[in-house]
Amino acid sequence: MDNATGNPPEKNLVKEILFWKKKREAIILSHVYQPGEIQDIADFTGDSLFLSQQASQTKAKVIVFCGVQFMAETASILSPEKIVLLPEIKAGCPLADMAPDEKVKSKIRELPEAIVVSYVNSSATVKSLSDYCCTSANAVQIVQTIPAEKEILFLPDMNLADFTAKKSKRKIIPWPGFCPTHHLLTKDDVIKAKKLHPQALLLVHPECRPEVCNLADYIGSTRGIIEFASNNPVKEYIIGTELGIFHPLKKNNPNKQFFPASENMTCQNMKLITLEKILHSLKKLEPRVIVPEGIRTKSIKALNLMIGIG
Ligand code: 13P
Repeated sequence: MDNATGNPPEKNLVKEILFWKKKREAIILSHVYQPGEIQDIADFTGDSLFLSQQASQTKAKVIVFCGVQFMAETASILSPEKIVLLPEIKAGCPLADMAPDEKVKSKIRELPEAIVVSYVNSSATVKSLSDYCCTSANAVQIVQTIPAEKEILFLPDMNLADFTAKKSKRKIIPWPGFCPTHHLLTKDDVIKAKKLHPQALLLVHPECRPEVCNLADYIGSTRGIIEFASNNPVKEYIIGTELGIFHPLKKNNPNKQFFPASENMTCQNMKLITLEKILHSLKKLEPRVIVPEGIRTKSIKALNLMIGIG
């Protein structure tokens, strides 16, 4: 308890965050992989596509992005006039790091005819080299807008590339990257979970391995998974994505049961942000994420195509 107010410390912290949020005319965006207490104080919680759309539309002066670097960079590209804060600047994305800018440039030189489609989990420079950006929610639709005879270089996630190629029936050259959190889920883990919960439907993110996706009843973005479980009469689900998603799943569906496909699917980067760091960010207006203007103007076209195809 706090001696002055008699409130639990977390309650006071939330009060202070809300005070500073108003003072700064800020908005808090949270990915569903964030800790539950952060999702609870956010103005909007959702998947990468939904949060990018919110970042591009908001009238707020300051965006506090509770997610990882590429998400805050995307917000800054879409809303350059706003201050974009990432409360823990070290919150990176190992998948985005698997497509270093120079290697991508050299691959594009090797494939001058290919259309380049980048998953939003990529650096701002990689986005600036791309014809299209996409998220897991719209990769298939984006690729389907490309003429069928064109070769497509899809980066950096090879599992999402495989899912997108199968669904869209397009010729896709995958980049050999993967999300360590999703890639660790194996077919054996899923078979074990299915044996334990034979009535449950299996819902997985398309960053999972193809052999895992093959066993799924539904494959979709985090928002897609939440909507599927919320709108379906079935009462039990095995979930194959980062464990933060259990917070909105349970909150929205108190009468349903959710089981992790693996207990190990935690993205450590997503857990680096805390309520204390959010408060510090709002008070100091730092750490800021700013994309250099030359890269920003080159990447915005590909990103606008992404947020337009929701
Ligand atoms: P969503 O596009 O479903 O939000 O996924 C983002 C992500 O980083 C998955 O690892």
